[in-house]
Amino acid sequence: ELGERIPAGFRVGVATAAFQIEGATHEGGRGESDWDVFTHQPGRILGGSNADVATDHYHRLGEDVRLMADLGVDSYRFSLAWPRIQPGGRGGGNHDGIAFYDRLIDELLAAGIRPMATLFHWDTPIELRGGWLSRDTAHRFADYAFLAAEAFGDRVESWVTINEPATVTLNGYALGVHAPGHTLLFDSLPAAHHQLLGHGLAVGALRDAGVVGRIGITNVHSPVEPAADGEEDGAFAALFDVIHNRVFADPVLLGRYPEAPEPFRELFGVFDEVDPDDLAVISAPLDFYGLNYYFPSRVAAGAGDADSPDGEAEAMRSLPFHLEPWPEFDRTGFGWPIAPDYLGVALGEMRDRYGDRLPPVVITEGGVSFPDAVAEGARPEDPVDDRARIEYLGDHIAAALDAVAPGGRAEGVDLQGYHVWSLLDNFEWAAGYTQRFGIVHVDFDTRDRAPKRSYGWLREVLGSRN
Ligand code: BGC
Repeated sequence: ELGERIPAGFRVGVATAAFQIEGATHEGGRGESDWDVFTHQPGRILGGSNADVATDHYHRLGEDVRLMADLGVDSYRFSLAWPRIQPGGRGGGNHDGIAFYDRLIDELLAAGIRPMATLFHWDTPIELRGGWLSRDTAHRFADYAFLAAEAFGDRVESWVTINEPATVTLNGYALGVHAPGHTLLFDSLPAAHHQLLGHGLAVGALRDAGVVGRIGITNVHSPVEPAADGEEDGAFAALFDVIHNRVFADPVLLGRYPEAPEPFRELFGVFDEVDPDDLAVISAPLDFYGLNYYFPSRVAAGAGDADSPDGEAEAMRSLPFHLEPWPEFDRTGFGWPIAPDYLGVALGEMRDRYGDRLPPVVITEGGVSFPDAVAEGARPEDPVDDRARIEYLGDHIAAALDAVAPGGRAEGVDLQGYHVWSLLDNFEWAAGYTQRFGIVHVDFDTRDRAPKRSYGWLREVLGSRN
């Protein structure tokens, strides 16, 4: 029984992000973000959709908090929309935006749910020219963090500075499949450094403001393996591990950028010029490390083709390596391999690489998209029988607990929680509304919510804890 295996103090929660659920992009004094612009450019989003309404959470906040209260979660991870709190990315706070999150936080606390607030889940104010390519954005981000700390610092239980700087860098600045849509390949690396600097400066701002909550960052980790034995795939696998995992974790936890494997050193030249003072800021001590896990990566030499999992990113096909499918694993709606044991590998790698420097770990996201068709004749209040999601979540939570148990692959890691991505079906970035990750179904015509079977399962797990 999963519930009985969950240790006391281990927090189970659900996660969302502002741009993916709120909608109301022109209400309450909200400014524009690069994602607003991107979603309105033709050809960017599958199905031509945008997030102007999304799940309409902005108008359904009460209902969504009630769903979480009935579920019985310990924690809710949401993000603050920078353009709602500080439209334009500089200057004072926006009253209506702050009032919206005040209400959210107060309703969560009244329901006994701990608020975990992410400062940046990808919606950069459009006025910040150059976005994260500009060093100035890191300083603007710290100012915004201070504003948020003044407004919510007395009540937020955990702060996440930045969500997945790797994804922002790779998808947004290197490959062009996310906002702001640049295809800079390795010239995107300054966007990585500026996000990490912004993270470190924001940690300082939150501490200066005296927030009561704990502070961390969220990185997405994907254990990497070469597709075949032999030097070629091995070298590219090491390269991908650096780009995807180590560039974002090493500076935070070790205070230095990783060394790239030999034939690729030059590509990372910008990191050799980084001021040591920046690295001191970036490696400020954290109270926890947020880890997102979705799937492991299998890397092979040579350019990819349109059929590979990364086939949709044209720019990726100009790289000298690609990701290969894992034939031994079932796949998600996105085509991602379902590989719970690799969550244990990811945690084990964290321990092996960072040892004593690794703070307690919170899994800040894990979850899965499936087509989740509404069954013919299903009752409207009970539309989706998502057994595969139940299996996915149960296996991943169990794999994480096994990994940190005595004798496990990641024994010694202080694992403190797991957040299911996501509470609601939502706007899944470049995939628009075509990938459903929710444990609550959202009808995208009416925005009506209906708990899926996985919601009922999770409620039972939570209720059966010792
Ligand atoms: C992101 C989420 C996203 C999820 C599924 C994570 O990388 O933080 O915003 O919806 O993956 O793609």
